[in-house]
Amino acid sequence: MQVLGMHRAPGELEPIERASTAELRALQLERLQWSLRHAYENVAHYRRSFDAAGVHPGDLRLLEDLARFPFLTKQDFRASYPFGLFAVPRERVVRIHASSGTTGKPTVVGYTARDIDTWTGLVARSIRAAGGRPGDMVHVAYGYGLFTGGLGAHYGAERLGCTVIPVSGGATERQVQLIRDFEPRIIMVTPSYMLAIADEFEKQGVDPRECSLEIGIFGAEPWTESMRAAIEQRLDLSALDIYGLSEVMGPGVAQECAESKDGPCVWEDHFYPEIIDPVSGAVLPDGEEGELVFTCLTKEALPVIRYRTRDLTRLLPPTARSMRRIAKITGRSDDMLIIRGVNVFPTQIEEAILRCAGLAPHFYLEVTRDRNLDELAIHVESQAGADAAGVAHELAHYVKNYIGISVRVNVLPPGGVERSQGKAKRIVDRRKL
Ligand code: DLL
Repeated sequence: MQVLGMHRAPGELEPIERASTAELRALQLERLQWSLRHAYENVAHYRRSFDAAGVHPGDLRLLEDLARFPFLTKQDFRASYPFGLFAVPRERVVRIHASSGTTGKPTVVGYTARDIDTWTGLVARSIRAAGGRPGDMVHVAYGYGLFTGGLGAHYGAERLGCTVIPVSGGATERQVQLIRDFEPRIIMVTPSYMLAIADEFEKQGVDPRECSLEIGIFGAEPWTESMRAAIEQRLDLSALDIYGLSEVMGPGVAQECAESKDGPCVWEDHFYPEIIDPVSGAVLPDGEEGELVFTCLTKEALPVIRYRTRDLTRLLPPTARSMRRIAKITGRSDDMLIIRGVNVFPTQIEEAILRCAGLAPHFYLEVTRDRNLDELAIHVESQAGADAAGVAHELAHYVKNYIGISVRVNVLPPGGVERSQGKAKRIVDRRKL
């Protein structure tokens, strides 16, 4: 793995970012064949599941042959808890991360020294794609710890040659003070927490547009184009989307490029994406919406073959780089609500809220059941001085017309919705309580 920034001028791309499709596919095929063999030979789970499906790593002659191999699911991680999916002796694992699910045991992931080096290089590449350059100061407000966000961002920013401020999430007053005093150019944080930081600026009597931030690298949760516009307007910065998940690596699986701003570019030299029909599992052609599936091409400690992310999106053709992009994630299949037969994602409600001038995009959805009928309530904050009854009516009307469901809208005063310090919790499902 090359050390980024050492032999290239600031901002110059790695050769693979400009490679032809043929070169990229050839590299993917070679790496995929290695990854399948590595998984099969070193992880009991893969040997069992490949054998049960009647496939062997040697059967993969073309990239398309991957469709014959079985999927890996969150459930497989749980069944192998904690280290059962590792393909190297535990002594070679230099780092563990874990993501806490809403239920049950956390999903545990591990990295060899080379895996960390790859990840670091990809986050450096991501920050550069977002417009970051050596010498920039980067405020990291993703949580540090078992979550991959903080440390993943941190190492990547250092690798690029930036000055990192490892603030982690929380202590919002201090976040604002450090931004005011240190004047970072870049912030890496969840979009929902960025809004909480903007609120705190205003509380301290400072216009957030006046702060030093020029680039925001936002991810770890679904967010819409309307949210991008709202954040950019409020903070006068360029908001770019970073995507990733711990099972596959962490942040930096895909990153939106500053020059095109048209959806995260998947770093396809390390991750092979597929979109499948979530029900049948069939691979769908590029451009169709379905569930995103990833195969890691180079991971040593935790080979990942056809992991079902549950994220719904589309694969889009390359633009600023030679690699394909993903459209903004519509949501996770787990977060899809079915309200009286209509599928609803929190992102659709976010979009609707941002259309109502008197509302602020701090919200959560509450689902209840009354005599077998599901009811959806939107708890959302108003802007200062807004007419609560008027905006409640406007939002309910919009949701009815464009999403097709009747909802109850509960407008709260500014500050009335609890702020997340990381990923926003958008759904309270009382049907399960
Ligand atoms: O959230 C890794 C990460 C950290 C990504 C910081 C970006 C920035 P997990 O905790 O395992 O890892 O959660 C992964 O978060 O499957 C998506 O549902 C969601 N997600 C992550 N990035 C985005 C994004 C990190 N840009 C899960 N847009 C994923 C929409 C995202 N959803």
